[in-house]
Amino acid sequence: MCGIIGYIGHANATDVLIDGLRRLEYRGYDSAGIAVLQHGRLEVRQRVGKLRNLEEALKQEDLVGTAGIGHTRWATHGRPSEDNAHPHRSGNVVIVHNGIIENYLVLKQRLECDGYHFESETDTEVIAHLLARSMAEGRSLPQALLATVQELRGSYAIAGLCGSDPDTLVAARSGCSLVLGQSQDASFLASDVTPLLPYTRNVMFLEDGDIGIVTRHGITAIDREGRPVFRDRVAIDWNAEEAERGGYPHFMLKEIHEQPQAILDTLRGRYRYDEGEADLGDVTIPPDALMNAGQIWIVACGTSWHAGLVGKYLFEELIRKPVQVDIGSEFRYRKAMVRKGDVLLALSQSGETADTLGAMREAKRLGAYVVSVVNVVGSTMARESDGVLYTRCGPEISVASTKAFTGQIIALYLLALHIGRGRNVLSRDKGQWWLDQCLALPGQVEHVIKRDAELLSVAKRFYQKDNFLYLGRGIHYPIALEGALKLKEISYIHAEGYAAGEMKHGPIALIDENMPVVVLAPRDRLYPKTVSNLMEVKTRNAPVIAFTSEGDHDLDALADCVFTIPDTLALLSAIPLTVALQLLAYHIGALRNIDVDRPRNLAKSVTVE
Ligand code: M6R
Repeated sequence: MCGIIGYIGHANATDVLIDGLRRLEYRGYDSAGIAVLQHGRLEVRQRVGKLRNLEEALKQEDLVGTAGIGHTRWATHGRPSEDNAHPHRSGNVVIVHNGIIENYLVLKQRLECDGYHFESETDTEVIAHLLARSMAEGRSLPQALLATVQELRGSYAIAGLCGSDPDTLVAARSGCSLVLGQSQDASFLASDVTPLLPYTRNVMFLEDGDIGIVTRHGITAIDREGRPVFRDRVAIDWNAEEAERGGYPHFMLKEIHEQPQAILDTLRGRYRYDEGEADLGDVTIPPDALMNAGQIWIVACGTSWHAGLVGKYLFEELIRKPVQVDIGSEFRYRKAMVRKGDVLLALSQSGETADTLGAMREAKRLGAYVVSVVNVVGSTMARESDGVLYTRCGPEISVASTKAFTGQIIALYLLALHIGRGRNVLSRDKGQWWLDQCLALPGQVEHVIKRDAELLSVAKRFYQKDNFLYLGRGIHYPIALEGALKLKEISYIHAEGYAAGEMKHGPIALIDENMPVVVLAPRDRLYPKTVSNLMEVKTRNAPVIAFTSEGDHDLDALADCVFTIPDTLALLSAIPLTVALQLLAYHIGALRNIDVDRPRNLAKSVTVE
């Protein structure tokens, strides 16, 4: 998820662009750049790191013009570097892009054959060359962008500017948001409304397939056939802080809602449906290293460790591959019996967690192939591992991890498919069937999110309690751990996750009418056993909040509250179930007036031991 801004008016574009990027920096911050049309020439400036590095560089010169585009990057293809920073240029054309171009390799090869030279490792640069080529064929800037996007597959929001057409900015969207704005004497485009609010509240949201045309006199759009299209003007009444959060009261809630898209982005371009296979060409270790791994190890901390535990159930059940899962801080000192040829998966949102990094280095020293599954491109883990599988969830701002967790599980689904097919444990049909299940997940998560009001009413009933217990069996045991961790982090309520069958070995002593128990009981083969545990709790007067599958009414009479999730395989129900628990925790935290995005004592990235 990157931030895009464009300005055309009478003021100094450099100032407007930098101001806009500052407001968009929450969307990505590994590099930033602007292109300004100065005296008929396109001037491009980029810097790696936070926006302030670009600001410092611009203080050394007088970059002045009245039209320009800017970008703050959250890398997906190509590490954070000046060459990979946007805007990207081809001749007299510059563009910025948010999203992923899935067919960029094919396009790149074709363009190289036609003599185009590439300066970056990004998927974006193909757009600049295609646009320049299309203009060279005699099209206007909007028509050239229309022709360009017809060649692209994937998701994008694009803004472009051409030196030979100084009075127009163009924009295109498919799957990534883009908004145009108009004030008295200037026009704008941006990824979201945040940077527009100081100048105008009169905006127009582009729809997928639209090409936006932005001039000093106004904003218009054409559709994918090139015909003028009318889009409603919207008057925005958010304040700037609300706008950054997309109108959500907290980043955490926004990030929970982003999960359907994040799941799709993690899957995008990484499977070949016809063959029922995963396509992990972006993980750079030899494919047979994964297939023939002696032992698979997973190391991680906190929420990422819970994702690792989900991975163990998944690998063992789906592809019959044994897996050992460790907490980073334990693995690194426990003399684990790692051998040459083993594979270690290091899971981390930030890619900077000191304990996971330490474990990863130790495994590498012992001869394992290390694959990191990380969200932040160019992070230390990504750089130090033999292969990287990026989760592509976009920046996670809230300290409580949500979308990164589901992204990690999706990445593990892909790895399981890859190994299962490679080892012939999964047939082509089974692979396709598995992909169908994965591709249904965004819709299932959406369905849970739409029923948020039910979770809010559960939260209202129990938010003043001091203790919670979460119980689950099988793959839902790590989800119980994660549900409890989420609750304790953002509500300061004491919460424990337990394997449901373990409860009778101790925690049952705590159960009374003041201990709400969250029971995860989707309809799987362990359902009857979990229901027995639920009964043990109920008999001791604890309020029970049950999560089960749609269509199940057996628990209605047994539990105090029942929330249903789409009826899917146990291995996959972990995802919609997690989202429901995230929402429950979120509402309880918010009702207790906790600073949900920045809970006390926690840090987003834990870079100390
Ligand atoms: O960046 P990482 O995924 O390596 O972080 C690991 C943990 O610090 C992190 O998951 C932590 O538990 C979160 N606050 C959970 O919400």
